[in-house]
Formats: sequence, C-alpha cells, structure tokens
Amino acid sequence: MRLKDKISLITGAAQGIGKTIALKFADEGSDIILLDINEEKCEEVANEIKRKNRKTWTYKIDVSDYKQVEELFNNEMATWGRVDVLVNNAGITRDNLIVRMKEAEWDDVIRINLKGVFNFCKVASRFMMKQRSGVIINISSIIGLVGNIGQVNYSASKAGILGITKSLAKELASRNIRVNAVAPGFIQTSMTEELNEERKKLMLNAIPLNRIGTPEEVADAVLFLASGESSYITGQVINIDGGMVM
Ligand SMILES: NC(=O)c1ccc[n+]([C@@H]2O[C@H](COP(=O)([O-])OP(=O)(O)OC[C@H]3O[C@@H](n4cnc5c(N)ncnc54)[C@H](O)[C@@H]3O)[C@@H](O)[C@H]2O)c1
Repeated sequence: MRLKDKISLITGAAQGIGKTIALKFADEGSDIILLDINEEKCEEVANEIKRKNRKTWTYKIDVSDYKQVEELFNNEMATWGRVDVLVNNAGITRDNLIVRMKEAEWDDVIRINLKGVFNFCKVASRFMMKQRSGVIINISSIIGLVGNIGQVNYSASKAGILGITKSLAKELASRNIRVNAVAPGFIQTSMTEELNEERKKLMLNAIPLNRIGTPEEVADAVLFLASGESSYITGQVINIDGGMVM
C-alpha cells in the first residue's frame, strides 16, 4: 500500500477525476476527506470508501470561499488529526470566444479554479508546516500550457495554477512539503462530454496515442506524486495527455 494510514483531502471529489483519485487513494490505504458543492454525490463516494474499510469525511464546501475553507480547517483538523496529502482538483469551464465572454464567465472560472487553489494551499500549508511534512498536488491542464480557442478564462486559471505550484514548491521545500501539478489533456469525464463532436474530433487528431485518456490514468500519476516514490520531486508538472504537448 502506497498511502498506508495517510489522510488525504481531495476537492471536487463528487465525480470525475476527483472521485477516481479518492477511490484509488483509499485502495492504497489512505483515509479520505471529500469536498464538493455536490453533497449528494459526495456521500455516494463516501459510501464506496467506507466499503473499502477506510475512514472518510464529507463536506459541502465552495472552494472559492476563503472563509469556508479556513473555518473547515480550524473546526475539523482536530477530528482528522493531520492532512498528509492535499489534491486541488475542483474546477469548471465557462467557454466562450473573448468577444462573447461575459465578465461573470471570466470571474467564475478564475474564482473557482485559481482562487480555490490559493485558498486551500494557504490554509493547508499552515498545518503542514506545523507537521513538518505534506504533499500538495494541483490539477492544472495542458490548456494552461498551450492555450485554446474559447478558453482564455480557463487557460489563464490553469496557467496560474502552475505559477502557484512552482512558487509554493520553493517556499515550502525547506519544511519538507512537496508541491507538484499534473496537466491532463483530453480525459473522459462529464467536463469533456459537453464538447461538440467537431471539437472532440479535432482534439483526437492532435493526440499521438490516438485516444481519449481515462480518469484512472490521471489518478495513477497523482498517486505517484502523493506517494514516497516521488520523494525527490517538487515544483514539477506532469502532462497526462497521450503526447499532445511535448
Ligand atoms: N476532463 C478533462 O479532460 C480535464 C482535462 C484537464 C484538466 N481537467 C481538470 O481536472 C479537474 C476535474 O475535472 P473533471 O473532468 O473530473 O470535472 P467534473 O466536472 O466531472 O468534476 C469537477 C468537480 O468539481 C466540483 N466543483 C465545481 N465547482 C466547485 C466549487 N466551487 N467548490 C467545490 N467543488 C466544486 C463539481 O461539483 C464536480 O464534482 C478540473 O480541475 C479540470 O479542470 C480535466
């Protein structure tokens, strides 16, 4: 077991990549703190984790609300005992060409995708510094590296996450806290189901491995970064994209 008796906190854990990471971490021996705005689906994930005989806690939290995040840690840390692994996974898209993009579409994506990561990094790192250990993994996107038509908001948020990852890796390294990111490409989840057929075809043509990725393939890389197998890796970005960006 690669995360035996660790405590891992995963945001956006009700479905998709976050849910898959939560279940994989539980299989590897971790207890899991599940966070999402979708309480009902989060409970379903919690029930699956309990069947694996791991402890789990669920919270309805909006990652973009700093006060909620700070109160959560202040109120619940005594119950959890510690947080060994933080996975900042919650994210949204509000795609539009910039000429049509509403201010709210920009604000929502930056608030949830970018400020959400800031909120959790800021609050969790305080506790991890006291523990003198911890691992933070941020879920970015290859769109943060190469951009995409109709996604200036999403691309900016995911590029920003890489800036947070590298700066924080430098800030926290002396406290034995590692900070890394993964940049998934085109992964089969409800986020990509929304894309029209033409867009899906275009993306597939750009993937050397010639297929869409699975949430399991993202979770495998996140597990590697969470585990001791990556103990000398910090400030890095791993692309999980079938070779789309080289
Ligand atoms: N699917 C892909 O192809 C792909 C590619 C690159 C990066 N990503 C990133 O992976 C992450 C997970 O994506 P997914 O495809 O599993 O998406 P998803 O939509 O299936 O899941 C996202 C989860 O985040 C939750 N969430 C949304 N806003 C929230 C908020 N304010 N507070 C708390 N939770 C919130 C949702 O309720 C949902 O459960 C996202 O950060 C996404 O940008 C996905």
